[in-house]
Amino acid sequence: MTSAPRIAPSLLSADFACLGEEVKALTQAGADLVHFDVMDGHFVPNITVGPGVLKALKPLTPLPFDVHLMITPVDPHIDAFIDAGADIITVHPESTLHLQRTLSHIRARGAKAGIALTPAQDPAFLRWILDDVDMVLVMTVNPGFGGQAFLHTQLAKIITIKDLIGARPIDIEVDGGITPETAPLVREAGANVLVAGTSIFKTKNYTGNINALREA
Ligand code: DX5
Ligand code: ZN
Repeated sequence: MTSAPRIAPSLLSADFACLGEEVKALTQAGADLVHFDVMDGHFVPNITVGPGVLKALKPLTPLPFDVHLMITPVDPHIDAFIDAGADIITVHPESTLHLQRTLSHIRARGAKAGIALTPAQDPAFLRWILDDVDMVLVMTVNPGFGGQAFLHTQLAKIITIKDLIGARPIDIEVDGGITPETAPLVREAGANVLVAGTSIFKTKNYTGNINALREA
């Protein structure tokens, strides 16, 4: 265990009636990234927000926007999110026919590229694509909703991915059910970026809730 993990609050659990104020509050509270979950009611059963909302929030914080696209097909929408201010774009492999093309397009447009794996997905294919990614997101719940229970089966997957990555400068992000109880487990396995919705927005003490994850 080395440096502190980076904390990425998920706006999915924020008050949608005042997202701008929520982003400012998270910035004040010491968040490292803003995790922006995009859902289409097709790839996942829920629908959230699009590039217009991202564009409106972008000027309100110096923090990078970590955009998690749970939409299919994903390729027709990537440019709109980059134009709106996405700093990191993470895609699910099954949302594109040609993953390497998608990732290299994201990088060519100047954003960082991430791959998200659902709980049932085997990470072995990553070895063919690791030179094209900046981040691997391990979903520790099924994508679609906040507030689900952490899947302990994913800890071994994080260890496997850490091993595959070797010395490459690639982040391992975890998303779903991250709390002060599960944070030490994913840290121990090798994750260095922690997404959290429920456990950060459960009270208005965002600073305390973020620190509780960072120091767990
Ligand atoms: C789920 C989203 C997550 C979600 C996490 O599909 O990708 O980012 O907001 O929420 P919690 O922390 O409540 O599990
Ligand atoms: Zn997410």
